[in-house]
Amino acid sequence: MSIYIGSNRTVLEGEDARKKLEQDNDLKWLTGKAGVLQIDQARWQKAQEFELKTWMVDGRWTHEDNNNFHKKAFGDYEVLRGMSFKNGIELGCGPFTNLRHVGGVTKVGEIYLLDPLIKKYLKHPFCRYKGGQMWIWERLVTNVNWPRRKSVQVIEGSIEDFQTEKKFDLILLINVLEHCQNVEAVWQKVLDIAAPGAVLVFADKYYDGVHLTEVLKDRYDAGHPIKVDQSVIDDFLAKHWEVLYRQVVEKKGRAGRTSWDDYKAVYYIGRKKDD
Ligand SMILES: C[S@@+](CC[C@H](N)C(=O)[O-])C[C@H]1O[C@@H](n2cnc3c(N)ncnc32)[C@H](O)[C@@H]1O
Repeated sequence: MSIYIGSNRTVLEGEDARKKLEQDNDLKWLTGKAGVLQIDQARWQKAQEFELKTWMVDGRWTHEDNNNFHKKAFGDYEVLRGMSFKNGIELGCGPFTNLRHVGGVTKVGEIYLLDPLIKKYLKHPFCRYKGGQMWIWERLVTNVNWPRRKSVQVIEGSIEDFQTEKKFDLILLINVLEHCQNVEAVWQKVLDIAAPGAVLVFADKYYDGVHLTEVLKDRYDAGHPIKVDQSVIDDFLAKHWEVLYRQVVEKKGRAGRTSWDDYKAVYYIGRKKDD
């Protein structure tokens, strides 16, 4: 069945979707079997409209964005337990962040959060970093959780446009790539801001580039424009990072959600290789 999900989150199905897909689809962005690696500013803005409505209207009373699911898929971040980082950044942090979970098993000195919508998210009733403070439930050694309030620095902007001289010991990029504008620019920025020996915590969907032509004829999902073949992700990770943790999770699609079809996602933690 054809599905068209617009930037205002309305969903068309069947014949209505098929007609809409004839005028508007993402096939033009396909780069062979590698998938959709880059879109233009206007297409990215549609994804941002979708994202804004997701959290500030439809998800206004939500407390989290699958962050507990991600935590489980990362094995509760156990491989990171006890590690100390001078600083850490979550790229595309959303309103709720995954850093509050990672911070529970590690020590992170300075915390930075970056998202193009971050100033808007600060107004979300359950934003986890309201007023530049984030509660982290520390569980470093014992089974007892200790709440700790950490200051965070918020950065409004996209990864691709992020200008900084700073290097980060810990970088999180979880469920963000498929929302971005330019995969190569994102990879390059992650490498540019990584301190020697930095740890990357990464998760995103694996697509099969061979079938994307068929998929994109039948599906438009305003909020998730980037769709990369598994090899694009695996090549980047294998080339620049030493694996500390890797798990591939298969998820069943849920009609009515944007993940309409079954999909695979990779959960990966790696340490930066020497250049
Ligand atoms: C699905 S949310 C995930 C948020 C968070 N990582 C989490 O797991 O809770 C994707 C986020 O990526 C942000 N985003 C989209 N394009 C981006 C870009 N080019 N650079 C940085 N963040 C981006 C969106 O604004 C949105 O907040």
